[in-house]
Amino acid sequence: MIAATDLELRAGSRILLSEATLRVQPGDRIGLVGRNGAGKTTTLRVLAGEGQPYAGELRRTGELGYLPQDPREGDLSVTAKDRVLSARGLDELLREIEKAQSAMAELVDAGERDAAVRRYGRLEERFAALGGYAAESEAARICANLGLPERVLGQPLATLSGGQRRRVELARILFAASEAGAGGRSGTTLLLDEPTNHLDADSITWLRGFLQAHDGGLVVISHDVELLAAVVNKVWFLDATRGEVDVYNMGWQRYLDARAADEKRRRRERANAEKKAAALMAQADKMRAKATKAVAAQNMARRAETLLAGLEETRQADKVARIRFPEPAPCGRTPLTAEGLAKSYGSLEVFTGVDLAVDRGSRVVVLGLNGAGKTTLLRLLGGMEQPDAGRVVPGHGLRIGYYAQEHETLDLEASVWANVRHAAPDAPEQQLRNLLGTFLFSGEQLDQPAGTLSGGEKTRLALAGLVSSAANVLLLDEPTNNLDPASREQVLDALRRYAGAVVLVTHDPGAVQALQPERVILLPDGTEDHWSEEYLELVQLA
Ligand SMILES: Nc1ncnc2c1ncn2[C@@H]1O[C@H](COP(=O)(O)OP(=O)(O)OP(=O)(O)O)[C@@H](O)[C@H]1O
Ligand SMILES: [Mg+2]
Repeated sequence: MIAATDLELRAGSRILLSEATLRVQPGDRIGLVGRNGAGKTTTLRVLAGEGQPYAGELRRTGELGYLPQDPREGDLSVTAKDRVLSARGLDELLREIEKAQSAMAELVDAGERDAAVRRYGRLEERFAALGGYAAESEAARICANLGLPERVLGQPLATLSGGQRRRVELARILFAASEAGAGGRSGTTLLLDEPTNHLDADSITWLRGFLQAHDGGLVVISHDVELLAAVVNKVWFLDATRGEVDVYNMGWQRYLDARAADEKRRRRERANAEKKAAALMAQADKMRAKATKAVAAQNMARRAETLLAGLEETRQADKVARIRFPEPAPCGRTPLTAEGLAKSYGSLEVFTGVDLAVDRGSRVVVLGLNGAGKTTLLRLLGGMEQPDAGRVVPGHGLRIGYYAQEHETLDLEASVWANVRHAAPDAPEQQLRNLLGTFLFSGEQLDQPAGTLSGGEKTRLALAGLVSSAANVLLLDEPTNNLDPASREQVLDALRRYAGAVVLVTHDPGAVQALQPERVILLPDGTEDHWSEEYLELVQLA
């Protein structure tokens, strides 16, 4: 259980949340929603005990499983399997058992060998007592359901993709939570920040079922409305403008209706306030003429101004980024060609013999299951990584714009301003300011280190960097992840209007529809085909 009273959260000088009272109890399945940058991640971190509130009191009882939005960098030399098992302390035990096993096989001295056998017996007993064997297969089952097959489990975390690492973390948390569940009592509170970001459709369906059955508390941040509709029985709406959390004790659909009614009421109140302010102003103007009423007139005008200022603030916060992709620089007929690309990591072959020709203004979608090498292909095309065989041939006038799924293109230490400056060193300052403004970055936020931006804000900044580049080939890796619905619509719109060539990797069918691709590349085979609607189903599966 988690209970927070009079919670106040700040980011720099901004108040994200004040005087909030929040409770998470067993049986609560809460959806935490709000615009990008509203403070959802900050709130969850504080509830998890990983961040300090500016003010307020927090009480926590029972076990906790917290999945942060950004993958944390821990020890990357451990295998995926050990990482998952470590949730119940089983990884150490397994390693000792293996050591004892090889000692039994290798030792020649009879006395030493007997000691090793006894040691093995003791360890195995302990392992069995902890439910180790059942647990091991349960861990494997959870992993498989999250798109982590046996083969991947044996690999060290360092060799996994960002998405795979995040799935390992999710598996670890769910594995820990299901332990109590097996005993019939689940005290674990789950705090999950965008758990579906790196999952394919099958895994999302499975996760939905898992969360529906979870009887500990749950707070989930997600832009996946189907997941919210299926899972949550309460909603916390975090309103960035008011710095308040509205608690709705109801499921998703009823919440949407109630929210719509609330918004309507607020709009009406705003309209009333505007009318009132206008009336006050008119009155003040009339009164100003008389010397005796000058002070009263001034007071009236001031009241009208405060009324209007409040309204202006809401308008600012409701603003949506106007995202546009760049005007492509002129280039030859085929700005980018790839021949016979192959890539392996260690003994793991990702793909071989992939050919691709990207013509001016053409649109290509890359499809493939999790781990089929979609991100790798984009990285090779973008020159971020070298192929083992084959080559990438730049055509005449090629200018690449690369949007990385994990925002690797951002310098997290540098400020927002320095990041776009770096992306467009020659652009005039005012032009960059305007550009950042349309992407909703202004004022103090320009000096904020990019590493402290919210997930959606990082996406926005990376996209802004693209725009300043005059790229004529965009390589886009999951460009709609992390975005709130309004900002996502903007990206889709930008995709529709962009005149240059696009190579797109996405799980989002809406993004593909917006792109209206001509061709599809299927990984790992590298087969190329004309786009047809039948592939749309594959997009979600991929
Ligand atoms: N050190 C800091 N200085 C200034 N602002 C900060 C700092 N750290 C975080 N912020 C701001 O706090 C706000 C809340 O961030 P948070 O990550 O909680 O948002 P979020 O609701 O999770 O957004 P998203 O949907 O994009 O993930 C953001 O506007 C972020 O830029
Ligand atoms: Mg967040």
